[in-house]
Amino acid sequence: MATLADPQPDFATLPEMAADVFTAPLARPAHVGDDWLEPQQTDYTADDHGVWDDLFARQMEVLPGRACSAFMAGLDKLDLSRGGIPEFGKLSEELGALTGWSVVPVPMLIPDHVFFWHLANRRFPAGNFIRTRETFDYIEEPDVFHDVFGHVPMLTDPTYADYMQEYGRAGWKAMRYNRLKALGALYWYTVEFGLIEEAGSVRAYGAGILSGPTEARFAVEAASPNRIMLNVDRVMRTDYVISDLQPTYFVIESFADLYRQTVERDFDRLYRSLPAGFTYANSAVIDVDNVLHRGTQEYHLRGGRGSGAVPV
Ligand SMILES: [Fe+2]
Repeated sequence: MATLADPQPDFATLPEMAADVFTAPLARPAHVGDDWLEPQQTDYTADDHGVWDDLFARQMEVLPGRACSAFMAGLDKLDLSRGGIPEFGKLSEELGALTGWSVVPVPMLIPDHVFFWHLANRRFPAGNFIRTRETFDYIEEPDVFHDVFGHVPMLTDPTYADYMQEYGRAGWKAMRYNRLKALGALYWYTVEFGLIEEAGSVRAYGAGILSGPTEARFAVEAASPNRIMLNVDRVMRTDYVISDLQPTYFVIESFADLYRQTVERDFDRLYRSLPAGFTYANSAVIDVDNVLHRGTQEYHLRGGRGSGAVPV
C-alpha cells in the first residue's frame, strides 16, 4: 500500500532535490554546510542560562495537569530540571539510549527538505540561540527553549518518536506533490499544537503549547477555542495562524492513534485529492467534526493578540 512516506529516497545522505520541486530560497550562513548544522553549540553566557532557568520555572508552574504524561515523563528521563541550557551532546546520549534520536544545533529556521532529512534520520534540529529578556514572552523564530524544552521530551516516547521520523520521510513525498502547505498544517496541529485525551480531559503534547504559559492554559481549559478530534483529511485542509493563540485545537486518542491515522494512510490518494490552498478557516466547525468543545471564539472575536483581549 502507498503510505505517508513512500516511495522513499535513501536518506543516508541528503537526497538530491528533483529539479521541479520548489523550496523557499533561504540564505545559508557561510559557516554552515548543506546540512545546515552548526559546528558546535553556542557558548552561552550565565545570563543565557538564567533565561532558560526562569522560562523553565515558569512552565513548571503551569504544566502539571495540563501537559500530557509522556511529556512530563520525558522531562524526568532527560533530567531537564538540572538547570541551565542542556548540552546537546549529553542530551543526545541520553535520548539516543531511549529512542535513538539526537539533538543537533542549527542557526535558524532551515530549509524544509533539510529539516525533513534530519527528522528522517532521527535528528532533531534545534535553534542554537536563546531569547533575551526583552523577548521573554514572544519570539518570532524558535529558540533553544522552544525546541529543546518543547519538543525533545516528547521524543522519549517510542511511538511519538517513530511518528516524527515518518513525518520527515513524508516531507519528501509532499514536496513531489507540491502539497507542503497541507503537510505543514498536519505538523502545526499535531507536533506544535496537538492535544491528547488523558485522564478524562485533554492535555497538551504540542511544543507550541508546552513552551508558553498563556497557550498552555488557553489550549487546555479556555472556553474560546474549539477542541475537535483529529481527522487527517480535515486538518490538512485547515488554515492556521502563526502569530496568535489557536482558534481550534485537534485532539488525538493516543499516539498509536496518531500513528495509525497518518503513517498507515494512503497519502498518494490524499495528495491527489487535496486542493492547493486551504479549504477551512482556522475557526470553522464543519459537519464531519467530532467536537469535544465548541469554542465561543470570544478571545479572537475581541481582536486577539495586540487588542488586549483576555485569553478566556
Ligand atoms: Fe516547534
